[in-house]
Amino acid sequence: MLYIGVDLGTSAVKLLLMDELGQIQKIVSKEYPLSFPKPGWSEQNPADWYNETMAGLSELLEGADREKVAGISFGGQMHGLVILDQNDNVIRPAILWNDGRTTKQVEYLNETIGEEKIAAYTGNIAFAGFTAPKILWVRENEPENFAKIVKIMLPKDYLAYRLTGTFCTDVSDASGMLLLDVKNRKWSKEMLDLCGITEDQLPKLYESYEKVGLLKKEAADQLGLSDHVIVAAGAGDNAAAAVGTGTVGDNKCNISLGTSGTIFISSEKFGDLTNHAVHSFCHADGHYHLMGCMLSAASCNKWWMDEILKTKDYSGEQAPIGDEKLGNNHVFFLPYLMGERSPWNNPDARATFTGITMDTTREDLTQAVLEGVAFATRDMYEAAKDAGVSVDRTMICGGGAKSPLWRRMIANVLNMKVDVPACEEGPGMGGAMLAMVANGEYASVEAAAAAIVKVDKTIEPDPEIAARYERKYQEFRTLYPALRPVFDVITK
Ligand code: XUL
Repeated sequence: MLYIGVDLGTSAVKLLLMDELGQIQKIVSKEYPLSFPKPGWSEQNPADWYNETMAGLSELLEGADREKVAGISFGGQMHGLVILDQNDNVIRPAILWNDGRTTKQVEYLNETIGEEKIAAYTGNIAFAGFTAPKILWVRENEPENFAKIVKIMLPKDYLAYRLTGTFCTDVSDASGMLLLDVKNRKWSKEMLDLCGITEDQLPKLYESYEKVGLLKKEAADQLGLSDHVIVAAGAGDNAAAAVGTGTVGDNKCNISLGTSGTIFISSEKFGDLTNHAVHSFCHADGHYHLMGCMLSAASCNKWWMDEILKTKDYSGEQAPIGDEKLGNNHVFFLPYLMGERSPWNNPDARATFTGITMDTTREDLTQAVLEGVAFATRDMYEAAKDAGVSVDRTMICGGGAKSPLWRRMIANVLNMKVDVPACEEGPGMGGAMLAMVANGEYASVEAAAAAIVKVDKTIEPDPEIAARYERKYQEFRTLYPALRPVFDVITK
């Protein structure tokens, strides 16, 4: 049998076709635009997601044995607000996970209502990118749009709805809406009341590995597929990536260096947090996880290479940065190009270079950008440790994980072993695996991961480099607290 995993990302949708043993037959990627209509805002058009997914699926299936395609599922960019009217038309562009417009609504939830109450309802506090503050923003700023809302969904759920007609979501992605009682895996009545919405405006909740329906006839005909292809609920991209890297069950770790950067620690138990610098969410394996999310990770390097250095030769720029330079850079980079979520929860944080001198070189700055992301990943790991978890190794995935230098920095800055999976297509692979479980190929997500995920190589930290980086990290972590008042001033 063949399965399709759809990774609905921020810059592109990536589709992958694999058999039930995890052999990848083909990968296709289709880009779509991202718009920043005002500073700190970030939007996309859901029709682009659907059209590019369908175009990508057609390309993916060219030359494939379509009869064998048995299931499709997703890993989707999380938290995005998609709202539909009574005719199923999209009311306004989707407001994405990295959009920072909701400072006022976040303050209302965390301060006026209070963090304790919000955390008691959901397991988390409000962050600017989460969905509930966006609903409040639409209610306050676009009342005519708010009045039209019949359906509220997340990005990948829009694809599932168009492909199957089922209005559904899964618990891992729903966790990031701040509308879910994460511990009990059900909508929080209190949060719905606070946002002025009702349960019938929200999708039906599924576990990520459950079937939500069959591919609709029109979609099946368009793709030349049979009408008994199942569609599984899928997961938020980080939970799907965790499945795709085997980060399931208890106390496993995955670091993703995508547009965003995340550290994801699976857990069999609900994470009852007192420190909410990281999130406590449902996992796609039926259990839970803790996750820290930084808003700009591989996107920092992409910005530095594409926009500033004007080069596509990423590996050429990294080539001169040898082991002797690691932990010896005098320049620091704070990676807050879109504000920051974990651990600071501050949309007004900004990126900076600090420590530049007359002898600073292009390589030093490139190195600082990569290191800034590694140090900020360590910040998230420290917050997870404060919440009582600790690991000694991690998987790694995402576009940034293709860089051997960046992987080495992560291993040494976090002083832990980094396992590189044979396939770095985390969310797409996880999506395909969830479809396999939904179709009965494997008894559980853990069984699928045990059979399919392979480690290609392990990067060991080097004691000398790790010690140098430990000193540098202690310097790095003084920067944000010192600059925070400056960010407040310069963003007013
Ligand atoms: C996670 C988050 C991001 C997006 C990226 O909380 O906001 O990782 O899911 O697609």
